[in-house]
Amino acid sequence: MISLRHVTTTFAARGKEPVVAVEDVSLEIPQGSIQGIIGFSGAGKSTLLRNINLLERPSTGEVEVAGTELTSLDGEELRQARHQIGMIFQGFNLVNNLTVAQNVELSLKFAGESSKSVRQARAAEALEIVDITEKAKAYPAQLSGGQKQRVAIARALATRPQVLLCDEPTSALDPFTTATVLQYLADVNRDLGITVVIVTHEMEVIKALADDVAVMEDGRLVEKFPAADLHREDFTPRTSIGRYLMSDGINVDRGGGHTAGAEESAPTPAPRVEENLTAAGGVR
Ligand SMILES: Nc1ncnc2c1ncn2[C@@H]1O[C@H](COP(=O)(O)OP(=O)(O)OP(=O)(O)O)[C@@H](O)[C@H]1O
Ligand SMILES: [Mg+2]
Repeated sequence: MISLRHVTTTFAARGKEPVVAVEDVSLEIPQGSIQGIIGFSGAGKSTLLRNINLLERPSTGEVEVAGTELTSLDGEELRQARHQIGMIFQGFNLVNNLTVAQNVELSLKFAGESSKSVRQARAAEALEIVDITEKAKAYPAQLSGGQKQRVAIARALATRPQVLLCDEPTSALDPFTTATVLQYLADVNRDLGITVVIVTHEMEVIKALADDVAVMEDGRLVEKFPAADLHREDFTPRTSIGRYLMSDGINVDRGGGHTAGAEESAPTPAPRVEENLTAAGGVR
């Protein structure tokens, strides 16, 4: 369904060293599956996710979604192809001075739906999927975080996409609300057959939702495994970053003053896993 082939994204700014945010990532995501992408801050997760809908066009490499090679498209063709890809964000990104229903209708307007009655009907349908119809006339400021994210999901679903991209969708939510939002994503995947890609730094989220896990570090995809492995007692990720992400708890040294002990228990910097990097696109 989604095919990333040797995708590299470099940010170049005048007078600064170029930043390689995504480096030679190849990944196949089957139709109807839930792909988790995990890694530390700055690993390139958001950039890779934005590469999928070309919100960030890769510097090199190919992106294919639902049989269409997006990287070969431009302008109107690309705009049309993007309608099959919805996206939600950590910060919800709702328009504050529009009601819930208007927020959802707006995405249909952007998608080129010219009939107001069709937009209204589709918005109502999308709000029903996430059980938030009763808030249709409310404004974002009147909603809880979980409700806002459900509206954002409805907005993403209104154009009836085949793919839903989720960038840290639960990072601003408490554990209970996180579970609710993840349940809606699971339902959308199962009932509508939508392929879901979810970026997170929480292994718990991956465990709860994903079919497959991809681990990123320093722009590279360093490890891949089925999420079911996480439930196996004898499973250990191959890379040290994978193992680190799997270990639970946060270690903070409060001994004070000396850094020798802190080095062992500090949550960052993450362990380097150079030894585990394989040749270009060689992660399987
Ligand atoms: N528009 C940009 N211009 C320049 N550098 C960028 C840009 N966007 C991202 N980067 C850099 O690319 C690298 C990867 O960033 P990215 O946002 O993809 O990481 P991330 O894994 O999503 O991190 P986080 O968990 O903090 O969201 C970082 O070093 C970041 O500073
Ligand atoms: Mg990010």
